[in-house]
Amino acid sequence: MLLTLPGLIDPHVHMREPGQTHKEDWRSGTAAALAGGFTCVLAMPNTRPPLVDIPSLEAAEDCARKKALCDYGLFIGAGADNLETAAPLAPKTAGLKMYLDRTFGPLQLKNKAAITAHMANWPAAKPIVVHAEGRKIAMAIQIAARLKRSLHIAHVSRKEEILLIKAAKEKGLAVTCEVTPHHLFLTKEDIPRIGPGRSEVRPRLAEKSDQAALWENLAVIDCFATDHAPHTKAEKDGEDPPPGFPGLETALPLLLGAVHEGRLTMEDLLQRMHDNPKRIFSLPEQLVTMIQVDVDARWTVRGEYLKTQCAWTPFEGMSLRGRVIQVDLRGTTVYEAPDVIVEPGFGRNISTGSLAPDPVKPIPM
Ligand code: DOR
Ligand code: ZN
Repeated sequence: MLLTLPGLIDPHVHMREPGQTHKEDWRSGTAAALAGGFTCVLAMPNTRPPLVDIPSLEAAEDCARKKALCDYGLFIGAGADNLETAAPLAPKTAGLKMYLDRTFGPLQLKNKAAITAHMANWPAAKPIVVHAEGRKIAMAIQIAARLKRSLHIAHVSRKEEILLIKAAKEKGLAVTCEVTPHHLFLTKEDIPRIGPGRSEVRPRLAEKSDQAALWENLAVIDCFATDHAPHTKAEKDGEDPPPGFPGLETALPLLLGAVHEGRLTMEDLLQRMHDNPKRIFSLPEQLVTMIQVDVDARWTVRGEYLKTQCAWTPFEGMSLRGRVIQVDLRGTTVYEAPDVIVEPGFGRNISTGSLAPDPVKPIPM
């Protein structure tokens, strides 16, 4: 059966450019997005150099403007050195990303005063996304509540975390959250199959009981976000494997499988992959934008056939259900499986570009 759905929105991806195009660049990363049914991605700032000021933001925007195949936004990173200078850049960004825990790249806010200052300075109307694990989630929520501002918690993975967010929501706090497909579909028990280096990811793969708690608290989860974080096979299999999984091309089929099994409704899925990200991140309407999905098509995941440059996946060999057949973005067909059929540079920045359809081109005489 062919279904027409809205273009999906992924509020959490890592595009690796500038600085690490041996892992991914804006072209390969957004090709993976289109193949996965995403027409808009919000990219994280832990690039090289990290996006923390005007020159780094402009360098990233330059790469994205030239190469992106789908629409995009850029997060600016909160660092110890941009307490005062980040906020004026807010209009050019999708939001502020704060890393309270250590992960890939140098961005990490270690003290409470810096976290508070960033939250106080950042405009209320623009989102703040926080990478916080365990008790640090409680701290972040507490600071945001005191400042009466909203907060979005990235990649919630554990039972104690989802219950904490549930309690915060019950108190009426303006807290939202996202969960990744890998934390919904993988646990520590998958590590031997995936391999020790390849299974490194932050937050780490968790216990079965954590996974079960995520599914039991679906109502608390606002968004499904891939945290698409490609690293090369050599890096993942090497001495000091960096954390991260690619995820753009497997997210929708994994979740459609859950719909097929009755663990999720189609409405639940679209709320979390379109409606809620659009609302939480105040994204403009992508007019005349839709994806066509063959929801019954079965396929076996093979890293080598994916569009992500890293060409591996933690879901290798799994049989998935659902394939994106066509993607229309702003009135133009941009993807016809298995090919991207627009040129790099078609994608627009959601903060600064117009998302209206392109004017109809005159028919050549
Ligand atoms: O596993 C992860 N990889 N978690 C993160 O927070 C960062 C990401 C990356 O950039 O590789
Ligand atoms: Zn991430």
